[in-house]
Amino acid sequence: MVALVNWLAVLAGPVIAKPFQQQQAVLGPSQDIQLRDIHIGDINFIHTTDTHGWLGSHFSQENYDADWGDFVSFVDILRQTMSQLSRDVIVIDTGDKRDGNGLSDATWPPGLRSSKIFNMLDYDLLTLGNHELYTAESAILEYRGTSQSAKFKDKYVCSNVEFIEDDGERVPFGNKYITFETPIQKQRVLALSFLFSFQRANNRAIVTPPLEEIMEKGWFQNMVETNKEEDIDLIVVFGHLPATDPTEREMHKIHALIRKCYPNTVIQYFGGHTHIRDFVQLDSKSTCLQSGRFAETIGFLSINMTSAMDAENPIFTRRYIDFNKESFKHHLSKITNDTNVPSSTKKGGSISRLVEDLRLELNLNQKLGNIPQTYYVSTRPLDSDENIYHLITHKVLPNLIPSKNYEPSMSRFILINTGSVRYDLYKGPFTKDTEYIVMPFNNDWHFITVPLVVASRIESYLNKGPVIASLGIPSSSHHKQRVGIFQKCPFINDPNLNEGYTTEDDFGCHGDDTPHNSQREFDIPNVVQCKEVKMSNEEKPDPMKMVHVIFYTFMELDILNAANSIINNLDLRMENLTTNDCSHYGGDSTKKLLRDYFAQF
Ligand SMILES: *[C@@H]1O[C@H](CO)[C@@H](O)[C@H](O)[C@H]1NC(C)=O
Ligand SMILES: *[C@@H]1O[C@H](CO)[C@@H](O)[C@H](O)[C@H]1NC(C)=O
Ligand SMILES: *[C@@H]1O[C@H](CO)[C@@H](O)[C@H](O)[C@H]1NC(C)=O
Ligand SMILES: [Zn+2]
Ligand SMILES: [Zn+2]
Repeated sequence: MVALVNWLAVLAGPVIAKPFQQQQAVLGPSQDIQLRDIHIGDINFIHTTDTHGWLGSHFSQENYDADWGDFVSFVDILRQTMSQLSRDVIVIDTGDKRDGNGLSDATWPPGLRSSKIFNMLDYDLLTLGNHELYTAESAILEYRGTSQSAKFKDKYVCSNVEFIEDDGERVPFGNKYITFETPIQKQRVLALSFLFSFQRANNRAIVTPPLEEIMEKGWFQNMVETNKEEDIDLIVVFGHLPATDPTEREMHKIHALIRKCYPNTVIQYFGGHTHIRDFVQLDSKSTCLQSGRFAETIGFLSINMTSAMDAENPIFTRRYIDFNKESFKHHLSKITNDTNVPSSTKKGGSISRLVEDLRLELNLNQKLGNIPQTYYVSTRPLDSDENIYHLITHKVLPNLIPSKNYEPSMSRFILINTGSVRYDLYKGPFTKDTEYIVMPFNNDWHFITVPLVVASRIESYLNKGPVIASLGIPSSSHHKQRVGIFQKCPFINDPNLNEGYTTEDDFGCHGDDTPHNSQREFDIPNVVQCKEVKMSNEEKPDPMKMVHVIFYTFMELDILNAANSIINNLDLRMENLTTNDCSHYGGDSTKKLLRDYFAQF
C-alpha cells in the first residue's frame, strides 16, 4: 500500500504524448558569456514554480548552484533596489513544492521541514499544486502550515480548491481572490489562482474544474460586481496549470471568461505544472509566464502600464534567470550600477545554513557509491550508453535475482515504466539524495509465464497503445515541449557554451538570461525492458517456449491486458490470463539494484 501511494504521488494531469526535455549543463557557466539583462518596468514580478523540494541547489550542475538562501538574498536586495527606483516587485509561486528531492521527501509527510524553509521567502502570492494534494497528510500540512499561517493567510489564493476539516466541513483552501494595492506605484491588483482540473486529490481536498468554479459558483459574479473594471488596474491570475496546453487549453478558456468581464484590464498569468520555460501572449493586454522547475529557473516579468500611452499598449518583457550565484550577482550589479554589490544578506546566509543543517540531519549526503559518467533521461537516444534507461536495462536489471529458485535456464523479460526515473543521473557521488532525486520508489515484482512469442510483443504493445495513466508519468506530468509549436529558433552549437535551456516562446528565442547550446530531445516510450532470451542449441528460439515476464506490481493490469490482446490477435489457443496467473517474483527493487550497481565504483 505504501508503495502504491508513493506511485500515485508522481502521477498527474493532462496527458500529452510528448517526452520531456531535460535541460542542463554539467559544466558551470563560462565567465566570458554575456548574460542578457532584465528590463525593469513599472510593475515587476519574480516567479518560481514546481520547485519540488529543490532548496539545496544542484550539486552536480553548476548552472544551478544557488540554494534557497541565495535566492532569498537575491529577492530581498532586488526588492530594496527597486523600491529606491520607485518600482514595485511582486513575488509569486505557483505550487508543487515537494516530491522530487530528499530535503522534502525524506520526512513524512513530504515537505514537513522543507516547507518551513521555503516559506521564509517573503512571497506576495502563494498557492498549491497537485503535489500538495496527493495525500491527506500533504493537504493538511499545506492548509494549516502555509495557507492558514499568520504570514501567508492574506496572500494565499486558491480559487477552485476546498479543504475538508476534521469534522467534515468544507472550507476554501485559501482566499478565492484577493485585492491589494502595490506599495509604490499604487496599482490596484486583483489576484486569482486556479489549479488545473486535477482528479486525484485525496479525501481532505476537493478540486472543482476552473470553468465550473467560475461559471457555477456565485463568488466570481459577486467579485466582478464589487470590483469594477474602472477600480482595478491589473489582474494577476497565477496558478498551477500550463501556459501551453493544446488539448485542454484551460488557461485560455479561463482567460476568455475573465476577459468578458474585464475587456480592457491588463491581465498577467503565471503558470506551471509542465516543468518548462514558456511565455505566451494571449492578447495585446495579456501574457502568461511559466518558469520551469526544480529551482533551475527564476522567471522575471515586467509590465509598463502606468503612463497613458502604456496603459493603452502595455509593454511586457520576460526573462528566464538561471538559478546560479553568477546570474544573481550579474543582475543585481546591473540594476544597482554597482559591480561590488553584496549578493548575500544575513537572512539569506542563515537560510543557506538551515538548508545545510537539514541536509545533514536527514543524512542526505551519505555516500552510497560513485557515478562515473552522466546518464540522461531524454537528451540522449534510448540506445546510447549515456541514456539512463539503457543503463538500467543493460547493466542494472540483469542483476535481478528472484527470491525462489526458478529455473535459471528460463528466458525472461523485465519491464519497468519509464516514469519510475525522475531525473538525470549526474557524474559524481551517488548519495542518499541522488536516490530521492532519480529513483525514490520501492517496488515489488510480479511475473507471468507466457510463450516467447507473446512476451516479445508486450513492450511494443504497451508503447504503441494510448498513454496509460499509471505508466505515463513523463508524458503526463513532465511533458515539456510546447507541443504543436513549430520550431523557429536556430539550434545552437557553440563550443564556448554549455548545454542548457534554449527556450523558444511567443517573444522569440532570447528569453534565457544565459545563452546555452541547444539539446536534442528524444521520445521516451511508456516502458522499457531488459530482455534475456536463453538459447539452447537451436538456431532460433522456439516461439512457443514458455518464458517469464516480470514487471512492477502496479503495472499488472496493463501487462495482463497487453498479453491477452496479443494472445487473441495471434489466435493462440490459450485461456486469457487473470491476476491469478501473476505470482510473486521477489528480488530487490530497481532502486536497490541501481544503488548496488553504483556501489561498486
Ligand atoms: C518601462 O518604463 C521605464 C520607465 O518608467 C523605462 O525606463 C523602460 O525603458 C520602459 N521599458 C520598456 C520596455 O519600454
Ligand atoms: C543606474 O543607472 C541608471 C542609468 O544611469 C539610472 O537610471 C538608475 O537609476 C541607476 N540605478 C540606481 C539603483 O541608482
Ligand atoms: C481476453 O482478453 C482480451 C484483451 O483484454 C479481450 O479482448 C477478450 O475479450 C478476452 N477474452 C475472453 C474470452 O475473455
Ligand atoms: Zn511539478
Ligand atoms: Zn504539477
